[in-house]
Amino acid sequence: MKRVAILISGGGSNMVALLNSMTGDHPARPVLVASNDPGAGGLVKAAAAGVATAAVDHRPYGKDRASFEAELVQHLEAAAPDILCLAGFMRVLTPDFVRRFEGRMLNIHPSLLPKYPGLHTHQRAIDAGDAEAGCTVHEVTAVLDDGPLLGQARVPVLPGDTADSLAARVLVQEHRLYPAVLRRYAAGDRRPVLL
Ligand code: GRF
Repeated sequence: MKRVAILISGGGSNMVALLNSMTGDHPARPVLVASNDPGAGGLVKAAAAGVATAAVDHRPYGKDRASFEAELVQHLEAAAPDILCLAGFMRVLTPDFVRRFEGRMLNIHPSLLPKYPGLHTHQRAIDAGDAEAGCTVHEVTAVLDDGPLLGQARVPVLPGDTADSLAARVLVQEHRLYPAVLRRYAAGDRRPVLL
């Protein structure tokens, strides 16, 4: 059975979808949900689901990412995850941190990578007149929002779409895609899931 830790920064809807999927014959179980924001709504949801939680406030560390990560790594090492899932985790990780978890760290990004790495992905798809948008799960490497693709889901961009209406349509697919990818990945299968 694989041990999964999940990093979040906010409400954690993707995290909840992952937790809800790791039951029955799923090859993994959650061991920790951690956040860089002690006030993240997702921590309450994880605790209510009976999963251990931890919070390391990044703000007192200012620009000192390495010291922030050193405290975070203490919690992660105590949980000893086989797989680390970034789910709406909004801190950019240092190359040292990435090296520590490389080959077993996943992220979900709300665009059809390699299109639109970074922020404001939905508005950029609308401004570009794209017919399709979506989300991507990839292995994390030292290059932001890059790394081997593990899954993608596509949605139409509809006339009159705003960034919010498109984000809501994509989020529904995120909650299908990430659990499907994690189930396959935890079984040692890196073939991309395409929805
Ligand atoms: C999601 O759209 C995810 O792709 C992005 O941040 C959003 C977070 O959602 N990285 P949640 O915190 O999982 O609800």
